[in-house]
Amino acid sequence: MKLFLDTANINEIREIASWGVLDGITTNPSLLSKEGISLEKSIKEICKLVKGPVSAEVISTDLAGMLKEGRAYSKWAKNVVIKIPMTIEGLKAVKILTKEKILTNVTLCFSANQAILAAKAGASYVSPFIGRLDDAGESGMTLVEEIVQIFENYCFMTEVLVASIREPRQVTEAAIAGADIATVPFAIFQKLIAHQLTDIGLKKFIEDSKKIPKK
Ligand code: G3P
Repeated sequence: MKLFLDTANINEIREIASWGVLDGITTNPSLLSKEGISLEKSIKEICKLVKGPVSAEVISTDLAGMLKEGRAYSKWAKNVVIKIPMTIEGLKAVKILTKEKILTNVTLCFSANQAILAAKAGASYVSPFIGRLDDAGESGMTLVEEIVQIFENYCFMTEVLVASIREPRQVTEAAIAGADIATVPFAIFQKLIAHQLTDIGLKKFIEDSKKIPKK
C-alpha cells in the first residue's frame, strides 16, 4: 500500500519525505487555507519536493470552471493530480480530463455507488472519507472494503485512496482491506512508527551494549 501525506505544510512534507517512505501528497482547500500561501505557489513547491502524485483540488463547481482549473493546474508540474468533487459536473469533468490524459482524484466519496461512478468516468483515484463517515455513525472501513471488492470484481483501474484518517489503526485496516493508498495526516504518520516496546527495547540494548568488552 502506498502512503501519502495529507497536508499542504512544507515542513511536514520535508520531514516525512526525509523518512524515505512517502509516495505522494493530498491537499484540499481547508489544508491550504492554513498555510497562507496561494494554491499555485504551494502546489509548485510541493511538487518540487515530492516526485509522486500531488492532489490539488479545483475550487469551481461548474463543469467549465473545473475544466479550466484542472487544465491550468496540470501544467504546474508533471505529478499534479486534479482533485474533483463527487458531483454530476465533477463526473463530467473527470471524463473529459481523463481523455486529455490528465490524472484525477474524485474526492468526498461516501458510498460504493459514488465510487463505481467515479471509476466508470475514468478517475485515476477515488477518495472515500472514512473518518467523516465514522463521525456520521457509519463505517468508513466497511465502505473501503466494499469499494476494493467491487473494483476487483470488475478490474476497474481506479486506485482506492483512503482519506480522512484519524487514527493509526485505520492505516493497518486500510492495508488489510487491500486499499491502494492511505493518505495520512502528519500527526498520525508519526504515530505509525511509535511503539513503547521499541523504545524500551532500544534503551535496554544501548545499556547492555556498554557492557560488551571493547576488545
Ligand atoms: O484530504 C481530505 C481528507 O483527508 C480530509 O480529512 O479529517 O478533514 O475529514 P478530514
